[in-house]
Amino acid sequence: MFKKKGLVLSLTVASSILLATGCSSSTGGSGGSGKDSGNPAVGATIYKFDDNFMSYVRRAMEDAAKGNVKLMLNDSQNDQSKQIEQVDTLIAKGAKSLAINLVDPKAAQTIIDKAKPKNIPVIFFNKEPDEKVLKGYDKAYYVGTTSSESGVLQGEMIAKAWEANKDKWDKNHDGKLQYVLLKGEPGHPDAEARTKYAVDTIKQKGIQVDELAMDTAMWDATKATEKMDAWLAKYSDKIEFVIANNDGMALGAIASLEKAGYFSGDKFMPVVGVDAIPEALEMIEKGKMVGSILNDAKNQGKATVQLAANAAKGKDVLAGTEWKLDDKKAVRVPYVQVDKTNIQVGKDAYK
Ligand code: GAL
Ligand code: CA
Repeated sequence: MFKKKGLVLSLTVASSILLATGCSSSTGGSGGSGKDSGNPAVGATIYKFDDNFMSYVRRAMEDAAKGNVKLMLNDSQNDQSKQIEQVDTLIAKGAKSLAINLVDPKAAQTIIDKAKPKNIPVIFFNKEPDEKVLKGYDKAYYVGTTSSESGVLQGEMIAKAWEANKDKWDKNHDGKLQYVLLKGEPGHPDAEARTKYAVDTIKQKGIQVDELAMDTAMWDATKATEKMDAWLAKYSDKIEFVIANNDGMALGAIASLEKAGYFSGDKFMPVVGVDAIPEALEMIEKGKMVGSILNDAKNQGKATVQLAANAAKGKDVLAGTEWKLDDKKAVRVPYVQVDKTNIQVGKDAYK
């Protein structure tokens, strides 16, 4: 596994994402027209294109595919049965490997059952399948992160900021941190681990907490605004911290807080997220977000295509790359804390 700093420095220099990449369902090779100059076809699915973070992963994948593989990329529209049909079609169209961002993490076995009889390698990414399922097929791999790491780093960030500001932020002066938590999709390994490890880490740092409310907003900004509206109506300034499993929801919460008059005059609410997407970096710069945890979309997208391309060409999946597999056959890209003091780290990652 890479050391955090080394990875961010060496790999962010190595490539840049063209944000202008279009929405075509097939990119790379000679344009995805079917007649491809010998580049093998990689069949890919993203659980839904309409996900802020995944849109950056997708761009990185399209970028990495250019001139290397013919990437047939599908929007599964958050529908697992649709995704399974897409996999059938991709196999029928001659995909030499599959790169799958599951809708439901529990559906990994179904995908393997389709690929294995045809000896087609499968690179799962972003939603980690069960270890047992991955172990059951020698040509199955995972590209993602160590989910718990984002929770630990977020918890550390919260604890540090709280200690430095508790004179102001402990509004009821009870010495405890009263929080609300916006959770990602229930059952998603990232959502479960971030929720658990963020709170556990704050407590381990010796800070007492009270959970005023916790609910899923499904990674989604609009849903998070609605939740936050309701929580503000119920708890108003009893809330001392907003913890979000991702930036999309943090941004949604900020929209709600702004409507309620926060971030003007001395009305303030600390908010943290995960992903460090450009929209969140802007909020950090404006002082409306304490910080975020960089979820390195560019390197996850790139690694996914690199492994899938190697697999499609019958090479060792790691051939010519700097990645390593852990004992679960996973490439894990590290998370990095980003706040005002190192905002450039986030900006560089999304350049
Ligand atoms: C997470 C990311 C979320 C969301 C989710 C989708 O890693 O932090 O913002 O994109 O993946 O599976
Ligand atoms: Ca308090």
